[in-house]
Amino acid sequence: MRAAIFYGPKQPLKVEEVPTPKPGPGEILVKVAACGVCHTDMHYIDHGVPTFKPPPMILGHEASGTVAELGEGVTKWKLDDRVLLPAVLSCGVCPSCRIGRENICDNMKMFGNHVDGAYAEYVLAPAKDALSVPEDVPLIEGSIIADAISTPYHAVVNRAKVKPGDWVAVFGCGGVGINCVQVAAAVGASVIAVDLMPEKLEFAKMLGAQETINPAEIDKGRVDKAIRKMIGDGVDIAFECIGNPKTIVDAYNTIKKGGTCVVVGYTHLPAEIPVAKTMFFEQSLIGSLGCRPVDYPRIIEMARIGKIKVKELVTGSFGLDGINDAFDLLRNNDPKTLRSVIIP
Ligand code: APR
Repeated sequence: MRAAIFYGPKQPLKVEEVPTPKPGPGEILVKVAACGVCHTDMHYIDHGVPTFKPPPMILGHEASGTVAELGEGVTKWKLDDRVLLPAVLSCGVCPSCRIGRENICDNMKMFGNHVDGAYAEYVLAPAKDALSVPEDVPLIEGSIIADAISTPYHAVVNRAKVKPGDWVAVFGCGGVGINCVQVAAAVGASVIAVDLMPEKLEFAKMLGAQETINPAEIDKGRVDKAIRKMIGDGVDIAFECIGNPKTIVDAYNTIKKGGTCVVVGYTHLPAEIPVAKTMFFEQSLIGSLGCRPVDYPRIIEMARIGKIKVKELVTGSFGLDGINDAFDLLRNNDPKTLRSVIIP
């Protein structure tokens, strides 16, 4: 099969012919329909974050496809079934899994990190973890449910428990933040989208944002003041989807008494949270990681009935040979790009 091979940081992926893997007991071989191009891969390619499986290996963790071969003992699937592969696989038996928090599984395995991923014609997956994709969810664009939509779903629904009528601020409207906007809007919140790029704010409006704020266009970039002027108080919930210590503090400062700030973006740096407010105003700062397997069928159903848009989110598609161009769009924060997919 053809695959884009990751040889290590600071070098482009190389498209090569490699042996097609054989499914072992309990596994399926999936013919990849599409794999979303995610910021997480940039951490390995550009910033030297090590992958658990040492290179050479295949990245890509946001995949959909069809079942191409069944390993021994697999009865759940048949050939050509349409499947979605969750980005992260959980063990099901560790203490976190046992209390229903599989997204923080002690033994989690991620495609394109611990095991070979889906920037390839085929990928192996445990049969028990694949999810069925109905005919009326497009298989190619549906691939982005595996991470770009599921991670925001977990943040909005499970961690923040956003309710209809809540005011929500979303800092950063890239691949992750834009889906916080659309999921929060889908569950009935009034959403204020915050981004430095006017194009991203336009996308946010298209996907349900009530209001938008560009920090570059307001006095001293004070989003907290702008929000209080706009709605008379702070927001119930703020999501930080950038991964920047400063914007985490900015997001925190937009919440009202009793409000919650959810950190969705990743940074290894510390942030200076005003903990006096945490105590005195009973505010919360919480994190959010990935998504639990139990939620995927709900997300797929929301996509099927159009409550969550997927087609609109995919702004570009590339063959394996164009994969480095797709990463360039992400690297350069291309204003017209929300999510690119690779169609091997
Ligand atoms: N203020 C407002 N918006 C900002 C700022 C800022 N200071 N800095 C960057 N942004 C916006 C960018 O314009 C872009 O639209 O944040 C968005 C980031 O989007 P992407 O680069 O597409 O990143 P994404 O894939 O959404 O990931 C965001 O989540 O999962 C983590 O590792 C990931 O930390 C990263 C974060």
